[in-house]
Amino acid sequence: VHLLPASPAPARVNTQIKLDEDKIVDKVAVKDKEVYLCRCWKSNKFPFCDGSHNAHNKATGDNVGPVAVRTEAQ
Ligand code: FES
Repeated sequence: VHLLPASPAPARVNTQIKLDEDKIVDKVAVKDKEVYLCRCWKSNKFPFCDGSHNAHNKATGDNVGPVAVRTEAQ
């Protein structure tokens, strides 16, 4: 019998934001021309980017960054 080693559980992406919720869904009203939404889950202003991805990327070698959402010209 050939047994494969058990795969480690995948690591969490979110380690600090609303950990008591089963799923986080944020609604953001975009009235400014452009907003930056966090995709690294490290922002202290989540769901908005506060630049925390820079420290995360430097510490881990990752390359994450925000998504820019802008209103279309009327
Ligand atoms: Fe998370 Fe910028 S702080 S993407």
